[in-house]
Amino acid sequence: MKLLIKGAEIIDPAGKIAGRNDILVEDGVIREIGKPSAAGAEVLDASGLKAAPGLVDIHVHFRDPGYEYKENVATGLRAAAAGGFTSVVCMPNTKPDIDTKSVAKYVNDKARAAGLGRLFIAGAISKKREGAELAEIGDMMNEGIVAVTDDGNPVMNAQLMRRALEYTKMFGIPVMSHAEDKNLAGAGVMNEGMVSTTIGMRPIPKEAETVMVLRDIELAALTGGRLHLTHISSAESVDAVRRAKARGLRVTCDVTPHHLVLTDESVMGFDTATKVNPPLRAESDRRALVAGLLDGTIDAIASDHAPHAVHEKEVSYDDAPFGLVGLETTLAVLVTRLVETGAAPLELLISKLTAGPAAALGLNAGSLAPGAPADIVLFDPAAEWTVDSSKFFSKGRNCPFNGWRVRGRVAATVAAGNIVFKDGAFV
Ligand code: DOR
Repeated sequence: MKLLIKGAEIIDPAGKIAGRNDILVEDGVIREIGKPSAAGAEVLDASGLKAAPGLVDIHVHFRDPGYEYKENVATGLRAAAAGGFTSVVCMPNTKPDIDTKSVAKYVNDKARAAGLGRLFIAGAISKKREGAELAEIGDMMNEGIVAVTDDGNPVMNAQLMRRALEYTKMFGIPVMSHAEDKNLAGAGVMNEGMVSTTIGMRPIPKEAETVMVLRDIELAALTGGRLHLTHISSAESVDAVRRAKARGLRVTCDVTPHHLVLTDESVMGFDTATKVNPPLRAESDRRALVAGLLDGTIDAIASDHAPHAVHEKEVSYDDAPFGLVGLETTLAVLVTRLVETGAAPLELLISKLTAGPAAALGLNAGSLAPGAPADIVLFDPAAEWTVDSSKFFSKGRNCPFNGWRVRGRVAATVAAGNIVFKDGAFV
């Protein structure tokens, strides 16, 4: 199996390969970049397009097993491929939770059967993600988990978090922290501030995040463990990570596209697609997150793709579950709101969607270097389209970007050397 991708402008932040070149792919790996011969190869004309490593999303909810009416492994992987993502890391808040080897195996088997891109698993830190007792982390390593997290829930017990950071050192995987003090967040539904006061909604102070970010950083210092803070959302969190990195601690973090481009003002329309945890913050936080991307404090952008059924979100704001879908809009929303406005260069965004997340979790992904897995996204950063959530490959419709006119369209996605998605359809 040979594929020659001709004439694309290459962006490969990890390999430092740039410029217009051809990419030869053979047997699922990148063989050569430059002007390789087309002999015996299927040719894909990519002139006018950019080619980047297949995007890597280290925070998605595929709801499988247990909540397949919201999403399943196959629909999740289709949404990923349509968005240019060839590697995803699934969160363990399923039913049952991914807290044993057998559940992890079930998810891995379903991903293999779907045959679209690579699915990695973040196993649970604690049994049933209840925060009481460590899950069977060593056993789940046999199914290749790449991190542990109780995402959806914080680990409120600091002693358990300490044990998780110590124990995972043995396996070389990070603990991914959903940093939220449950008591401080209480029954809040949106960020505490001027907007929550004005519209009379129950508030979540950003300190609910800050205190846990600071706690987990100190526990990383105490244990020497690897800490990954996921979906950080405030200026204080960015500052804390910046200082942790300056101390030489093994701390990484990611931010979501929605926290980079939206603020709590979006909640004023009461669209339940804007109800997300952590909540959309103030403009000063949004700016601090962009600054953290630019100065390298933030390692990765991750969608926190969290599909819910229409009937679950079509309720009052108070009653709706937290979560929004992002896999099919991430690239375009970032190109439109950060690149086109001059807030961030395209190369930097691509690095935070490829090499950055791959390095944070130690995945063999996010590079176009010869020998790397042949996972590639081809896209046109100038192509305009309108987000229509009714057309998503994901089952989720809970998208705050629905109806947006955006720029940046995925033209084709290549996974393990095969064209899996092209011109809006699966191959
Ligand atoms: O908005 C969110 N949705 N935040 C979380 O932490 C969990 C996620 C979900 O599973 O729906």
